Amino acid sequence: MALNIRQLTPVFAAEITGVDLRAPLDDETFATIRDAFHTHAVLAFPDQHLDDDQQTKFSERFGALERSIAETISANPVVYHLANVDDEGALLKPDDPKRMILEGNKAWHTDSSFKVVPAMVSLLSAREVPPEGGETEYADMRAAYDALDDNKKRDLEDAIGLHSFAYSQGQLGTGALTGDELDALPPVEHPMIRTHPANGRKALYIGRHASHIVGRLVEESRTLLGELLAFATQPQFTYRHEWRVGDLVMWDNRSVLHRGRPWDESRYRRVMHRTTVAGEAADNPWRVDAAAE
Ligand code: OGA
Ligand code: MN
Repeated sequence: MALNIRQLTPVFAAEITGVDLRAPLDDETFATIRDAFHTHAVLAFPDQHLDDDQQTKFSERFGALERSIAETISANPVVYHLANVDDEGALLKPDDPKRMILEGNKAWHTDSSFKVVPAMVSLLSAREVPPEGGETEYADMRAAYDALDDNKKRDLEDAIGLHSFAYSQGQLGTGALTGDELDALPPVEHPMIRTHPANGRKALYIGRHASHIVGRLVEESRTLLGELLAFATQPQFTYRHEWRVGDLVMWDNRSVLHRGRPWDESRYRRVMHRTTVAGEAADNPWRVDAAAE
């Protein structure tokens, strides 16, 4: 069966069939997938049914993996279980700290933008899905940037966003991390416009961890961030993935925002496993192979 790439919206996201990600890929097939990834920014692979080891190996083709922030969130530092069930398989109680952390995923964000070197790629596989709801939505920040008027583009050209885990968790009112875990996550600065190294496309870099714009009035810059987010997540820039068990979806955190959609968590299980490819900076302290401080 030949590899087949089908674009899912007029602007981004594609579905790839005709490839088995459980087996090692030859270099040519991998290069085709990587090029499609840089073009479409979100790739959906139906019917893959990967186990953790297969998902890890495929993810590592894109680069060294990223550690999750804390044991509170993920017992396994490399394969993060987003699940509303505990180790015994029981549905989490509404006040379980893990469930509160997962609530955060329901607001538009780009993964680990609160880290000094944010995530490059995230790969999410569906192990158990609810019969309704629980979709994941993506918004193309390249298309959104392209659609900004020239004044806005100029205004944002050199703007720096301040991203903070304490800020975004504070919005949810949770205290799931310990003091030491929070100390490892001081606020960090990132350009609001990022240029993709593979294709030179510019993209807005915003989302829920962005607290304000450095050197501007906090409240004014929060208003601007809110306006930009509303503009950039309009339907013409978005794709909604309706999960089926066995799907693997990967996205480029440099190019898109994403958010999870609600479902009836008191009735239905949803179990997703995520691997994350670390940002490429050589001194990225979150890479799994970096020496822990
Ligand atoms: C993630 C995430 C949303 C979802 O895996 O990083 O934000 O729908 N997921 O589970
Ligand atoms: Mn996420």
